[in-house]
Amino acid sequence: MVSVPGGHFSKGAKYGSEEIRIYSQHVYGLVGEAFLYSAITEDLKRSVPGKRVLDIGCGAGKWCVTAAQYGAKSVDGFDIQPEMVELAKQATSHLDMVHIQVGDVADMPYDDDSFDVALSLFVTSNLSPEGFTKHFQELNRVLIPGGKAIILAPTDWSCYGLYIKVEADPSFIRNKIAQTLSTMPKYPSTAQVTEAFKNYTEILTTLFAVNDNGYLFHVEDISRLSHGQPVWYKCDKMTFPNYFYSEKSLIEQFRTNGFHVDKIDNNFTEDKRAFYNSTNPPILVSEDYVTHPTSYVYHVTKMLSEPHKVV
Ligand SMILES: C[S@@+](CC[C@H](N)C(=O)[O-])C[C@H]1O[C@@H](n2cnc3c(N)ncnc32)[C@H](O)[C@@H]1O
Repeated sequence: MVSVPGGHFSKGAKYGSEEIRIYSQHVYGLVGEAFLYSAITEDLKRSVPGKRVLDIGCGAGKWCVTAAQYGAKSVDGFDIQPEMVELAKQATSHLDMVHIQVGDVADMPYDDDSFDVALSLFVTSNLSPEGFTKHFQELNRVLIPGGKAIILAPTDWSCYGLYIKVEADPSFIRNKIAQTLSTMPKYPSTAQVTEAFKNYTEILTTLFAVNDNGYLFHVEDISRLSHGQPVWYKCDKMTFPNYFYSEKSLIEQFRTNGFHVDKIDNNFTEDKRAFYNSTNPPILVSEDYVTHPTSYVYHVTKMLSEPHKVV
């Protein structure tokens, strides 16, 4: 099979064949359950029974399966990558109430007011700035007034720092990173960034971006990032092409598109601890890593009145 590289494209970031393979193993492999974060499952159990649910950027379909298991009346999932859609179709083939198709967040393939509940989990960080804005306009269009959405997104805090296995030495890793950075070409491709850092097995999470001169740098200070800047998330298993959006940008989208923010959750800590402890052998991670949020969960409601557009 031909291996397709991932990268940043006009509609947003796409995974390459290898990332899709690793990602779907994470979702459905032995440790897959750890990725069904309790911050979301508890709310889903309460909010989806009997409802029409939309899973935006459904990936390999794990949340479509979960929403169906929790008693949704129907579940529609879409994703821009046909390979993901294929995985999601396979995962949900036994569930009659689930429908999966290819689609773009910028032009969601549904009528107005079609859904009671929408999920957008780790999707906004995959979108180019134009896709990011359209995602929220389209979310408003397809949800009924009073409909709920759960948005899982890495924002400011989750983009800080270098998180490594506890036995690794931070200054040794930082020096090694600096050496690798000095060998990188200007404006590297996703394949080049992935290749350069693929043997950094000590790293659990860190972020790279390109500066104004085209050179790759290690982001340990997010004030160096701007709205919608292409970035690469390096985690222990893979390197994702992504885009940076601050919490302020997200809240601004909720405000201009008529959403009320009901609550913002971060309770990944216990899930992450359980995940790392469940691996064999268990991976020891430093204390700051388990208290470091990888993302936040934004629970919002589409308000009954028309959004107040700011011009
Ligand atoms: C990190 S994955 C998350 C998948 C799934 N929501 C989950 O939590 O497992 C992000 C997904 O967003 C999809 N995506 C990126 N840009 C998109 C777009 N413009 N429209 C629809 N899906 C998109 C990607 O193909 C990918 O499957």
